[in-house]
Amino acid sequence: MIVQARNVSKTYGSNGHLNKALDNITMTILEGEFVGLMGPSGAGKTSLLNIFSTIDTASSGEIKIMGKDINAMKEAELANFRRHELGFVFQDYHLLDTLSVKDNIVLPLALSGVPVHEIEKRAQEIAHKLDLVDVLSQFPYQISGGQKQRAAVARAMIAKPRLVLADEPTGALDSKAATDVLERLQTLNQTDRATILLVTHDAYAASFCQRIIFMKDGRFDQELDRRGRSRVEFFHVILDMLATLGGNA
Ligand SMILES: Nc1ncnc2c1ncn2[C@@H]1O[C@H](COP(=O)(O)OP(=O)(O)OP(=O)(O)O)[C@@H](O)[C@H]1O
Ligand SMILES: [Mg+2]
Repeated sequence: MIVQARNVSKTYGSNGHLNKALDNITMTILEGEFVGLMGPSGAGKTSLLNIFSTIDTASSGEIKIMGKDINAMKEAELANFRRHELGFVFQDYHLLDTLSVKDNIVLPLALSGVPVHEIEKRAQEIAHKLDLVDVLSQFPYQISGGQKQRAAVARAMIAKPRLVLADEPTGALDSKAATDVLERLQTLNQTDRATILLVTHDAYAASFCQRIIFMKDGRFDQELDRRGRSRVEFFHVILDMLATLGGNA
């Protein structure tokens, strides 16, 4: 099991202004799964991802990632764990403005001490696949939102992590770029056996997943499994579910 969460709750704020973002979530993600997380704005999707990313902590509950109790890990151990096992794409990219696009992308490799020629090779490879070659020497404030998002996806994938946590990785992309990113994620999942948890509002992006969890008010509401369906068939099943749930998910 890659993720095991039991009775996870998250409350923000203090004294009178409490906001319960996650309400007793229990879930399991198996190795090699490609799971989608949908639900309206404010449902708690980012809150859950940030906790699995070890970037934020739960108010209560138990979380094991790859069998390790993340609440019990010390900061140095957590940093090492994040660097070697996890890849993140944040909703607002989190690129460092003081580093070039290329240096942002290769940061996980540089921190892990991968040799320079190997870093260079992988940077070129991923830049080609995500159409970033022309902007590698630019800085994040000089490129478009879609380019930033693709750079964030490249950074999350470059070290071939075992678990990728992606928060709206295609929200700012046109349909061709979104398809490229989703196909890259699919390859990472199928070829490199990475486990993926993908937050999205978009039924098309969700249709690349094998299983989709729909959240509402900090809880799990519904779940869909792709089973033997084609991606296009699953896309229509997701649209039907969104229509049934009402509102935007
Ligand atoms: N740092 C914070 N401090 C206080 N409240 C927060 C904080 N982060 C999130 N919340 C609240 O927690 C709830 C869940 O927010 P979260 O960001 O997890 O939603 P989401 O499902 O990711 O929404 P979106 O689709 O808009 O990204 C919301 O009510 C939000 O206002
Ligand atoms: Mg969010």
